[in-house]
Amino acid sequence: MPIRVHGPPCRLRLRRVTAAALATPPGPPARRGPWDDAVYFTRFFLDPLGFVGERFEQYGDIYYAPSGGVGLYVLRDPEHIWEVLVRDAAKYGKTHSALRQLEGVLGEGLLTTDGDLWRRQRRLVQPAFGPKRLAEYAAAFVDECERTARGWYPGQVRDLSREMMDLTLRVVCRTLFGHDVSGQTDVVWGAIKTLTTGFAAARLVPGWVPGGPQARSEQARADLDEVVMGMIADRRASGQSHPDLLQRLLDARDEDGSALTDVEIRDQLLTLFIAGHETTSHALTWTLYLLSQHPEVEAELRRELRETLGGRPPRYDDLPNLTYTRMVFDEAMRLFPPAYTVARRAEADTVIGNWEVPKGAEVIVWIYRAHRLERVWPEPERFDPERFRPEASAVRPKCAYLPFGAGPRACIGKVFAQVEGQLLLASLLQHFHFELEAGHPVEPLPRITLSPKHGMRMVLTEV
Ligand code: HEM
Repeated sequence: MPIRVHGPPCRLRLRRVTAAALATPPGPPARRGPWDDAVYFTRFFLDPLGFVGERFEQYGDIYYAPSGGVGLYVLRDPEHIWEVLVRDAAKYGKTHSALRQLEGVLGEGLLTTDGDLWRRQRRLVQPAFGPKRLAEYAAAFVDECERTARGWYPGQVRDLSREMMDLTLRVVCRTLFGHDVSGQTDVVWGAIKTLTTGFAAARLVPGWVPGGPQARSEQARADLDEVVMGMIADRRASGQSHPDLLQRLLDARDEDGSALTDVEIRDQLLTLFIAGHETTSHALTWTLYLLSQHPEVEAELRRELRETLGGRPPRYDDLPNLTYTRMVFDEAMRLFPPAYTVARRAEADTVIGNWEVPKGAEVIVWIYRAHRLERVWPEPERFDPERFRPEASAVRPKCAYLPFGAGPRACIGKVFAQVEGQLLLASLLQHFHFELEAGHPVEPLPRITLSPKHGMRMVLTEV
């Protein structure tokens, strides 16, 4: 049982030391100054996936890292993850240090807020993700995908990572905001790349360095702001009403009758716009890469597409018959979960398993590592969509597979992304076969999301 030490704030120091000795999980010793910090951040920055993997091997499925005055609990065990994200969700908030920088980009959107503000926002946004709306969006998903495929030719080499960003961005903007973003995808791509890759560097390089990562991030933020504020201004200026999420936000009224400000709407749009396309884009890119490395899986997938669609574009009502397509997409997100961690801060004293977690402690759920837990996923590095046959999934522990998170803060766009993934794969694969360009390096880059570090240059060939 965890040992609890109660006392007034002046005893907090004693409490932490006592708790660390008796009731915290094993873990690395506290860093002892700037040199230790520099070594830690450099090692972590260079290879976070490997660094954390080694620590799990050394300390077990949960470890404690003393960090910046608050302890950091790092998890990969499904039971522990379920306790944090589901059972004790009310005891945790999202005001953790990893999110602070994201808040600077996304403002007070659905991803970053807590408490009543979050609940109100979730209620406001949720209807845009209901089944009726998804059935309507499906045609737009396929339409945008066919538009992309029409611009490609057999023999071309394309960076699929970039192409998928373009496609998923157009999809989100068209379906949720009724906006054609085609002419602005370069600006958005550049800004997001700067923000996601500069995220970690911005912690290492001081803000006053001219042209440094923080200055570049400011510019990227301003660029995104311009695009999103432009969408709001265009809709207002058009004087027209559309049945989409943007309109819902514009029409929303508080109990006192006041409307959302442009900044509040911007924060919501920016959150959905970024959370809604980058993740799905990475998931599709990793899936196409894995298919290129596993011809037997691709052959099985093509058999399903032939039998179900026979060459025509997929539709929403085909989804129940595209089961293998879905299994492939799910397995790709097991190996390369685009959101590879989620984080929380304890807002009250609590426990994880038998370990005490004091108020203020931070918890990092390592989805990437949970998806490689050998006792749940035998031969974890092997790409095997068969793991997602319904009978296999039914006996897996809760929270063993969580590319979309779990509990009340789970992804609002989960079904949107699953439908989009299934339909876009079905559509793209009927047009082309994708082969990795000879010699192209493939390496995951874990920053805010898990992207392919060098892009994904692929040769398009006829099917
Ligand atoms: C493959 C695609 C996607 C993945 C892997 C993914 C992953 C996640 C995860 C893991 C979370 C939980 C974060 C946490 O617990 O702290 C989350 C939350 C969220 N996602 Fe997604 N997501 C995807 C697609 C989408 C799409 C398509 C949208 C919207 C169009 C979206 C919007 C959001 C929002 C707004 C939240 C915050 C929800 C809340 O806190 O209430 N995501 N996503």
